[in-house]
This record gives sequence, C-alpha cells and structure tokens, in this order.
Amino acid sequence: MDRIRIIGGNKLHGTIPISGAKNAALPLMIAAMLSDETLILDNVPRLADVALLQRILGNHGVDIMAVGKRPGDHEYQGQTLHISAKNIIDTTAPYDLVSKMRASFWVIAPLLARMHEAKVSLPGGCAIGTRPVDLLIMALEKLGAELSIDAGYVVAKAPGGLKGATIEFPKVTVSGTHVALMAAALAKGTTIIANAACEPEITDVADCLNKMGAKITGAGTPRIMIEGVSKLHGARHTVLPDRIETGTYAMAVAMTGGEVQLSGARPELLQSALDVLTQAGVTITVNNDGIKVARNGAGISPVTVTTAPFPGFPTDLQAQLMALMTRAKGASHITETIFENRFMHVQELARFGARIQLDGETATIDGVAKLRGAPVMATDLRASVSLVIAALAAEGETMVNRIYHLDRGFERLEEKLSACGATIERISG
Ligand code: UD1
Repeated sequence: MDRIRIIGGNKLHGTIPISGAKNAALPLMIAAMLSDETLILDNVPRLADVALLQRILGNHGVDIMAVGKRPGDHEYQGQTLHISAKNIIDTTAPYDLVSKMRASFWVIAPLLARMHEAKVSLPGGCAIGTRPVDLLIMALEKLGAELSIDAGYVVAKAPGGLKGATIEFPKVTVSGTHVALMAAALAKGTTIIANAACEPEITDVADCLNKMGAKITGAGTPRIMIEGVSKLHGARHTVLPDRIETGTYAMAVAMTGGEVQLSGARPELLQSALDVLTQAGVTITVNNDGIKVARNGAGISPVTVTTAPFPGFPTDLQAQLMALMTRAKGASHITETIFENRFMHVQELARFGARIQLDGETATIDGVAKLRGAPVMATDLRASVSLVIAALAAEGETMVNRIYHLDRGFERLEEKLSACGATIERISG
C-alpha cells in the first residue's frame, strides 16, 4: 500500500493549479446517462473516484472515451471525457461497485428517468456517520416511482415514467438534490425542489443539464423549478474548479507560511472559508488568475467556526481548518453540524502533539507552538489531507499511511506541493 513521507518545516512558494471539482465531475458523468447522445466533459480531474465511476457506468453499457494529452496542453490540464449512453444494457448497479463509492448510488435517478426501472445496491456503511439514502428514496417516490428494498438492493420502478411533483427536503441534502434534479429533468410536468442544496456543484450540474435541453431554473437557490422534457441531447461542458481543493491548499499555505498562487480558483465558490482564513491572519488576494494566499511573519489567530450548507463553511474543509488551528495562538472552536462522527482526524492530529478536546459536535483546539512529525493513518478523504497539512508544519518526518483515500479526491497532491517547496514523496508498495 502506498504511503506519503513528509519532512515538515518548509514554507510554500509558487503556483498550484486547481483541478476540476470531484463533486461536480461525478454527478455530471452520471447525468450523461439521461441522454442517448454524447456528453463531452472537459476539465475532469484524474482521480481514483472518477476511474471507479467510469467502471460503474461501463457496467450499465455506457461508453467512455478519455482524450489523452495534446501537444501544448498544460501538464495539469484535466482530461476530456466523451460519455455515450446510447444503449443502456443493464439497469442493475451491483453491491461490489456501489459499496466502493457512495455517489454511485445516484445512478438510480437517470436509470429510473430513462429506463423506468433500476436495481441499485444500498451504499452500505461509511466512515463518516450513517449517511442514509432515505431522502433520495423519498424524492423518487414523490416523482411517482415505486421503491422497495430487497436483499440489500433498492428496487425501483416507474412503469409509465416519472411525473413532476413538489419535493420538500426536511434537511438540506446535496445527494438528494442531485437525484431529484436528474430524475425530474425527464419527468412529465413541473417539479419544484424546496429546501434544495445551493452548493455550486448543483448549479454546475443544472447548467450542464440545461445545455442538454433540460428546463431548470433557480439552481443555486433553495427553490429549483424543473419543467420536464421528453428527451435530452448531447452537449459539451467544462467542470468547475474544485473549491475544496482550493481551500485545502489555502490552508496548507496558511499553515506553513509563504505565498502561493492558486491558479484557476474561483473565490466566490469558497468565500466563507476565505473569510475565516482572513480572520486567522492570512492575506487573501483575488487576481485574474485565481487567488493568492500569503502568510508572512504573522502567527495564526484562533477562530470559531460552525460548518453549514453552502454558502456556509463547508464540512469538507473542517478537518483541514482543525489542522491549521493546532498551531494558532489561543483556543479555537469548530462545530460540525453536517455529519455525525466526522472527527476521526482528532486522534491522528493528537499524534503530532495537537491539543484537541471533543464535546459532542464541538472541538476545542488549544494551539501549540510546535508539532512533531509522527506515523499517522489516513481515514476518510478530507481527514487524510488534514494530516498532510499538519505534517507540512511539523518538525521532522511524518509517514501518512493508507493514502488511497487521498487518491480518491486529490489529483497529484505530492507533485503540486513539492513544486512549491514541500519535502513530500510517495513511497510505493
Ligand atoms: C456531498 C459531498 C460531500 C460533502 C456533502 C456535504 C459529493 C460526492 N459528496 O455528500 O463531499 O461532504 O455533500 O456538503 O458531492 N442525509 C440523510 N438522508 C439522505 C441523504 C442525506 O439523512 O437521504 C444526511 C446525511 O447523513 C448528512 C446530511 O444529510 O448528515 C448531508 O448529506 P448530503 O448533503 O446528502 O451529503 P452527500 O451528498 O452524501
């Protein structure tokens, strides 16, 4: 199993190109199943989760062609995928594939909308809380599907096709909103999604669906309206930049000190996180090429932050912020409201000498003057990268074990950081 070895203490200086967003690329690839024509996606990140979804879609009969690099392409340029779901040959998504990645459950929406049937394995356990799919099922039932659970599979049927309806989510859910949006695009009549998630990745998917001929308004607000159409056609769409990757590198620079240009980043996608970093004493400058992050001389000030749905502070940056606050001058408080149990990084950060107390949903972090490198274990995706951030500022060597989580969501992490002066290498095997 690969590991990452980091020797901490170097400031970061240089440019980090920001990749396409994993959390947009995955639903966009799934949305391609809504049409029998080709959807071309540009700026798709090269990630383990994207490769796995290619296999999952392939199982349904979807053809995917990845266009290789062309002369003149930047080394970090995302890939272009040509996704053609002309013939869907299988409406079952089996356990051994769905259990590896929760988001693959979302294929239930295009399968039901286009084929009027689907049999999709329940996603199963997950490291961060229970993460149920009850709200996705509720949304599909509102659209007229009949669902039952049989031997670990959700079996869904909509013999006469899906019908528009009002879907009101009792809590904000990204997965529920994606599923409702995709299913409603081909439903007969009008659908209203109330209390919809406003995450930029939802807007990106809605934009792409509109290019494919869907009639969606209000994406990016809590009320989305969809006029169902009978068919969607091919289109070409560029995946938006990854706001979580952007925030992660911004926190890495805040942690080590130095000055880094996050090239291609879009500040409006993570304003709340940039505001928190500014409070922490980091200088954020927006320019034509993205965002410049600098911390020169000044220490890190403590902050009090609560995670919330967009435009609030993202849960996917909570672990990274906690790593940063381990070195703040004073006590910080971070409250996690989106996922239960999303504090697995706390015990690993303690191995660096961090002082963190947990009380229910809130962590209190007492900043320490120094962290020391240690062997640590990556748990979930975002927790793993928080260990990298701590290691970059820790004295001595850190070995991050079980890094397959990092490869799921961060493209060429060690290359991007070492290009800015970090001592970081992957050790294979
Ligand atoms: C997505 C993101 C993930 C991010 C999360 C919150 C992708 C691939 N993943 O996850 O990186 O951390 O949004 O921004 O885009 N819930 C239910 N019932 C349901 C569905 C969800 O109770 O049927 C709960 C979840 O357990 C969680 C909360 O709702 O407590 C939010 O989940 P949701 O927004 O759906 O997250 P994901 O789409 O799984």
